[in-house]
Amino acid sequence: MSNKGVNIKNLTKIYEGNNNFKAVDNISVDIKPGEFVTLLGPSGCGKTTTLRMVAGFEIPTSGDIVLGDEVINNLSPDKRDTSMVFQSYALFPHYNIFDNIAYGLKLKKLDKETIKSKVTNIIDLVGLKGMENRYPNQLSGGQQQRVALARALVMEPGVLLFDEPLSNLDAKLRVYMRTEIRKIQQKVGITAIYVTHDQSEAMSLSDRIIIMNKGIIEQVGTPKEVYYTPKTKFVADFIGTANFIDGEIIEVSNGKAKILVEGQELTVPYTGDKKAKDSCTIVLRPEAVDIGEEGLLDGTVTLSTFMGSYQDYIVKTKNSELKIQLNNPQGKKIFEEGANVKVSFDAVNVHII
Ligand SMILES: Nc1ncnc2c1ncn2[C@@H]1O[C@H](COP(=O)(O)OP(=O)(O)O)[C@@H](O)[C@H]1O
Ligand SMILES: [Mg+2]
Repeated sequence: MSNKGVNIKNLTKIYEGNNNFKAVDNISVDIKPGEFVTLLGPSGCGKTTTLRMVAGFEIPTSGDIVLGDEVINNLSPDKRDTSMVFQSYALFPHYNIFDNIAYGLKLKKLDKETIKSKVTNIIDLVGLKGMENRYPNQLSGGQQQRVALARALVMEPGVLLFDEPLSNLDAKLRVYMRTEIRKIQQKVGITAIYVTHDQSEAMSLSDRIIIMNKGIIEQVGTPKEVYYTPKTKFVADFIGTANFIDGEIIEVSNGKAKILVEGQELTVPYTGDKKAKDSCTIVLRPEAVDIGEEGLLDGTVTLSTFMGSYQDYIVKTKNSELKIQLNNPQGKKIFEEGANVKVSFDAVNVHII
C-alpha cells in the first residue's frame, strides 16, 4: 500500500450565499505519511468541509492542499489519490459484497484476476471472509461499515478519509469498530484523516488530534499533549473534564512559575511567556485533585455521589467549583455534602493557560 503526507496550507472555505459564511478560516497543518490524524470539534466547526476539500468535493476559496508532493486543489475527486469512508456507508444495495468492493477496480478496468486477488485480500483483512455473496441488507451495521472500509482500502489510496464513520452504530459496537479501524490502518500503514465530534474516539484512534472551533484550529497535538497541556480553555473543556481556577503569576524562572491561587502560593511547571503580575488560569483534571483533612485550599462539599468505580464530588472553593473524581472509594473516607474539607493536588498536575 502507498501512503502519502498531506500538507494543508492556509486553507479557507467561504460558502457563497447571502452571508458568505466562512466555514474554514485559514488553517494549516502538516500530516505525515502513515499518520492517523483526527479532526475533532463541535458540530458546525468546519471538520467535514475541511475533509471534503481534501477529497475534492469542495473547492477551497484560498490556500493549498498538497498530497505527497503534488498540489491537488484543482484535481477532480477521482483524479486524487484519496478514498473516503462515509457515515452512511453508501453501499450499492443490488450488488453483493464482492461486487461492492470490486466496483472501483472495475471502473479502473483492471483485469479480472487482479480484481479477484485484490478484493479477496481486502475481504480477509477487514474480517469479512465468507460474506462475499451476501447483499448489504444481509449484513449488520458493523459488517456494512467493514465493507465501506474495504471498498476504500482496495483502491490503495495515498490517504484514507473518514467522516464520522461510526455514528450509525450502537455504543458498544462503536468502541469495537474503532479499535478495528486502528488495527487495520496500522497493519497497512496508510495515512488517515478521520472526522469526529467524539473525543474518546479521537483519543483512542489518533497519533495526533486537530482540535477545531468555529473554522479555526485551536491546537494540534498528541492525545497526551492536548489532555495535559491544552493551549486554550476551549481545548481543556472539549477534551475530558476540566477545572479552572484564576490566579496571578508572581515570578517565572527555569521552566517554573510561582503563582498565587486563592491566597496560596505554589510553584508549578511553566514554559510559556507570561510574566510577573500577569493573570493566569490553572487547569486541573478531576482525577488529579484530592480532598481530605489536610491540603492547600479550603472548600465545602456541595455534591457527593457514589459512582461505583469512583466517588464524584463537587467542592466549592473561594473562587471556583471543582469537579473531583476519587477513584476506588471502597474503604476510603467519604465526605458528605456540607462537609468542610481541604483540597490538594500535585504541582506537576497543574497546567497554566
Ligand atoms: N454547502 C453549504 N453551504 C453553506 N453553508 C454550509 C454548507 N456546508 C456546510 N455549511 C456550514 O459551514 C459550517 C461548517 O460545516 P461542516 O464543515 O459540515 O461542520 P462539521 O462537519 O464540523 O459539523 C456550518 O455552519 C455549516 O452550516
Ligand atoms: Mg460533519
